[in-house]
Amino acid sequence: MKTGHNQLNPALFVFILYLCIYRSRQQNEQQVCQQCSGAVLNGSAVGEFCSSFAGRVAGRCCLGNETSGRERIIGLDLSNCSLTHVDNLQEASAAFIIDLSINSIFNMSDTAFQGFSKLSHLILPADMACPGGNSSWEKVELKEGKRLCKGQRNTCNQPGKTPANCPEYAQCGPYGPGFFECSCADNYHGYKCLREGQFPALQVLGPLGASTFVLSLLLWLTQRRKAKSL
Ligand SMILES: *[C@@H]1O[C@H](CO)[C@@H](O)[C@H](O)[C@H]1NC(C)=O
Ligand SMILES: *[C@@H]1O[C@H](CO)[C@@H](O)[C@H](O)[C@H]1NC(C)=O
Ligand SMILES: *[C@@H]1O[C@H](CO)[C@@H](O)[C@H](O)[C@H]1NC(C)=O
Ligand SMILES: *[C@@H]1O[C@H](CO)[C@@H](O)[C@H](O)[C@H]1NC(C)=O
Ligand SMILES: *[C@@H]1O[C@H](CO)[C@@H](O)[C@H](O)[C@H]1NC(C)=O
Repeated sequence: MKTGHNQLNPALFVFILYLCIYRSRQQNEQQVCQQCSGAVLNGSAVGEFCSSFAGRVAGRCCLGNETSGRERIIGLDLSNCSLTHVDNLQEASAAFIIDLSINSIFNMSDTAFQGFSKLSHLILPADMACPGGNSSWEKVELKEGKRLCKGQRNTCNQPGKTPANCPEYAQCGPYGPGFFECSCADNYHGYKCLREGQFPALQVLGPLGASTFVLSLLLWLTQRRKAKSL
């Protein structure tokens, strides 16, 4: 009885650790929503977007469900938020609309919106340029002291520009205003997609797969030992 209890301890410990890491990751994801006080207001651009997409308001964010059931930030309203720098919005990289107006931003990282491929409505203070330049957007306008960047253009096939330079066995895809992403075609992987063969499954599994594997291994080991000693 006593030994059995002791044997289970490591597995239980790993499981609890795993839960803690999972929880802190989930909480981190919401950090950008608490960047300043208040919540998304009903009459605002993000508020209207949120109610028309049946999203859930959490602080300065509008959350929506992915098909997988996971909640993602689909709208972010950091207007009137005393922002001076913009470089840490990655948690909102799946957002469709972001409002950064009514802030005195004097430093915006060039890569601030890298990976924001769904972003189609960005509201900035009037003195700021749209990220990626005017050519990265369908429409750029100045309205009520705000810069509106609307309709993100696909950098891969812009007329009059040289097509984005992806290696031979790769496909170009949008990756935020002014950015593109080369993803290897089926059966190719590695540097410049030059290696042929199946993509290594381990890399796809990532940390979640790894910790589940360790947990299963521990459980298996402890249970097997327990079974033997019976
Ligand atoms: C926004 O609208 C919701 C429902 O339409 C309402 O419950 C909420 O009180 C409103 N919030 C504000 C700040 O007006
Ligand atoms: C997402 O789905 C969960 C569970 O079905 C639900 O409780 C939650 O309110 C949904 N969130 C949104 C934004 O629809
Ligand atoms: C910005 O927020 C302050 C207080 O937080 C408020 O007094 C002010 O009216 C707000 N400005 C705008 C334009 O909403
Ligand atoms: C803006 O940010 C960059 C990179 O984070 C930094 O090197 C630069 O000094 C900053 N400029 C100002 C004026 O804060
Ligand atoms: C981008 O478009 C805006 C509005 O049409 C204009 O004011 C601005 O000068 C343009 N910027 C560049 C670099 O062309």
